[in-house]
Amino acid sequence: MTNFRYTDNLLYYNDLCLFDIAKKYSTPFYCYFGNHIENQFNAIKNLFNFKPTLIAYALKANSNRSLINVLSKLGAGADTVSGWEIRKALDSGILSKNIVFSGVGKSHEEITYSLEKNIKQINVESISELRLINNIAKNLGMIAPISLRVNPEIDVGTHKNIITGDENSKFGIIFEEAKNLLVSLNQFSSLAFMGFSIHIGSQINSIKPFKLAFSKLLELVNFTSKLGIEIKTLDFGGGIGISYNDADTINIPDYAKLIKDLTHTLNIKIILEPGRFLIGNSGIIIAKVQYIKTTKNKKFLILNTGMNDFIRISLYEAYHKILPLEINDEHQDYYDIVGPVCESSDFFAHNRELNRVREGDLVAILGTGAYGYSMSSNYNLRPKLAEVLLQNGKDVLIRKQETYEDYSQLEIVDGLT
Ligand code: LLP
Repeated sequence: MTNFRYTDNLLYYNDLCLFDIAKKYSTPFYCYFGNHIENQFNAIKNLFNFKPTLIAYALKANSNRSLINVLSKLGAGADTVSGWEIRKALDSGILSKNIVFSGVGKSHEEITYSLEKNIKQINVESISELRLINNIAKNLGMIAPISLRVNPEIDVGTHKNIITGDENSKFGIIFEEAKNLLVSLNQFSSLAFMGFSIHIGSQINSIKPFKLAFSKLLELVNFTSKLGIEIKTLDFGGGIGISYNDADTINIPDYAKLIKDLTHTLNIKIILEPGRFLIGNSGIIIAKVQYIKTTKNKKFLILNTGMNDFIRISLYEAYHKILPLEINDEHQDYYDIVGPVCESSDFFAHNRELNRVREGDLVAILGTGAYGYSMSSNYNLRPKLAEVLLQNGKDVLIRKQETYEDYSQLEIVDGLT
């Protein structure tokens, strides 16, 4: 966030003038900063030098191949939640031995695919899934490496839609059940038990819930050791929050120290599954002010991008900074910043103070690298956006804007004739 500044009234990201970049592409488009992704990755990597650690990027945050490539070149693995994500990770140069497979609804087909590709481990979320994996592995004549994703049943205090580790959550196996499973693990002859995984939620801004959850996990680890069962991996999931508004967020050295202290006596490999931390503040949307509309109570900036391109604000009441690419007026005004989609929930900000802008001016919506493009849709039949990567001072198109032909080619129009 701190990398943005104005020089001569133009918005820069480090030394890159975003106004100049924007002139080269048609708006709206996603724009990513490759060097920021690298810095975020290295920040974690350097702190986890105390034990072998796999940093498995959570592909769901953003699965553009060029962005995954930036990470795979640094040695990242992948946390995946579907057959396609496994395939995309492999296509993007991530080694199968560095891929973990999470998710509550893995299909027969996806489990088979993951086993055939020899991924590192499947993070199992229910007993039914465990049985299915065991059967599939038996039929394939394989031993499936599995980890039990456990649910510590704690409240992490993040938005209700992104909590995954409380007692009402569909994710993970509760501890009592996990203990029962461990006792009867030898019933499952085609499984190799690797360890545990845990993921308690996303955009977590304090160390406290992690401390609570990981300490509980360690009790389970002790229980397991007492049964004489070896633990090879502990997967601490993702969830590290980032600052969208310059407020303080979680301190990464503290996070690393917590895991270091908890695991120092264990002979294990650590797995982390960060998504947002790596990519969230590495991306922006550049959009145009299509119209300015003044009503009795409000001044609306109607952008040419909407909730179909970026849904976090409508869905989670999330805050994202919005900055004009060029300041043309020193005066400030209060705007409702909205999109063109036919929904009242299609907004980016209410009553936001901004330097006065004009129709045709460009703005940047910050912090849209994670859960932006990957959650976008064609709603209102709007095309999915182009994506541009800025790295080492160069800009390159990494995904074209979708065309009407791209969109419509899968439709079958004469199906009923
Ligand atoms: N591992 C698992 C098993 C997950 O379910 C997730 C995210 C992650 C890792 C990565 O979490 P992160 O480090 O990015 O917090 N769409 C929401 C976030 C949903 C997160 C879903 N799971 C948002 O835009 O805030």
